[in-house]
Amino acid sequence: MAKILVTGGCGYIGSHTLVDLADNGFDVISVDNNSRSDSRTLTGVEKITGKKIKNYKVDLCNFDDLFAIFHENSDITGIIHFAAYKSVGESVNNPLLYFENNLVSLINLLKCVKEFKTPHFVFSSSCTVYGNPDHIPVTESTPVKAAESPYGYTKQMGEQILNEFSKSSGTQCILLRYFNPAGAHQSCLIGETPLGKPENLVPVITQTAIGKISKMSVYGDDYPTRDGSCVRDYIHVCDIAHAHTLALQYLEKGKNNSFCEIFNLGTGNGVTVLEAIKTFEKVSGTKLNYSIGPRRPGDVIAIYANNDHAKKVLGWDPQYSLEEMMTTAWKWEQKLKNDEQQLSEQKPGLT
Ligand code: WQD
Repeated sequence: MAKILVTGGCGYIGSHTLVDLADNGFDVISVDNNSRSDSRTLTGVEKITGKKIKNYKVDLCNFDDLFAIFHENSDITGIIHFAAYKSVGESVNNPLLYFENNLVSLINLLKCVKEFKTPHFVFSSSCTVYGNPDHIPVTESTPVKAAESPYGYTKQMGEQILNEFSKSSGTQCILLRYFNPAGAHQSCLIGETPLGKPENLVPVITQTAIGKISKMSVYGDDYPTRDGSCVRDYIHVCDIAHAHTLALQYLEKGKNNSFCEIFNLGTGNGVTVLEAIKTFEKVSGTKLNYSIGPRRPGDVIAIYANNDHAKKVLGWDPQYSLEEMMTTAWKWEQKLKNDEQQLSEQKPGLT
């Protein structure tokens, strides 16, 4: 059984990918220092899969600790690297934190991959590498433009590092460029758990609907789009997760025709912010309290994917609709609230 090391396995996309990998016969271990995630997430993963998942609570920036994990698991056949800081806004305010954390962790990982000759490496990249594209939908050969944030630069640099590393080391790499992940596993046992106030649209919507956020702001309705709000390609987190399983299976077959291949992971449908809100209101039956606010600096006007390459080469076919993304995200938000209420009833004054 192929053994996969998943960094950031306690995170949003990482946890959903652990489920998909385990459901597809992979043996998985996680490395996550839980600085931006909750180790209890693995409880949900284990309930869904019926398998015990080991997490090494290690900072990837600590080379010796990371090396020891590879030494203990010398049968690792592949890596999926999710662990990174991902807040666009925070990266603008603290660029060195992002360059150090996201790049040192990747380089430490690759030093171990080289030492232990790990054959396969899948990298969590992002459509943010395209910047504001001149033409949409974007394909994998759409030129990479100047990033809009240090976070975006760490994704671009990560891709460049892997491109060069794969040529020199022989490790076969795949770069997966996610568009906008949304939704939660249908079991409602895992989902997105933003630390503090969320930045991303869908958790802001669900926290507004549940009352955690009193009123949300739509960041601009004066863009050159069909309703003035920005266009994005929202993709269910379980579709994203399954693409990682397909990517590893593709590498295992040895059919990849280059050392470092790129795939867009989006539905191919562009959705405006206002359309996303309307969809949520329809599926949840709740009216959302929002107002139109000023534009957010660094926002891309419109982007969505041409996903033909992933469909044709990986056999990837996104299954979930925007309605299902909103429904599962809303169910998860309601579950989080119920859990908080139960906790406060059991231990009054703790929350
Ligand atoms: C989507 C749209 C906002 C919040 C970023 C990263 C990307 C990935 C996902 C990590 C935009 C609007 C949002 C709100 C709003 N990162 N919005 N009010 O910026 O497309 O992508 O997050 O995985 O790499 O670049 O996602 O969800 O922040 O914003 O109007 O309160 O929703 O202006 O148009 P984004 P987002």
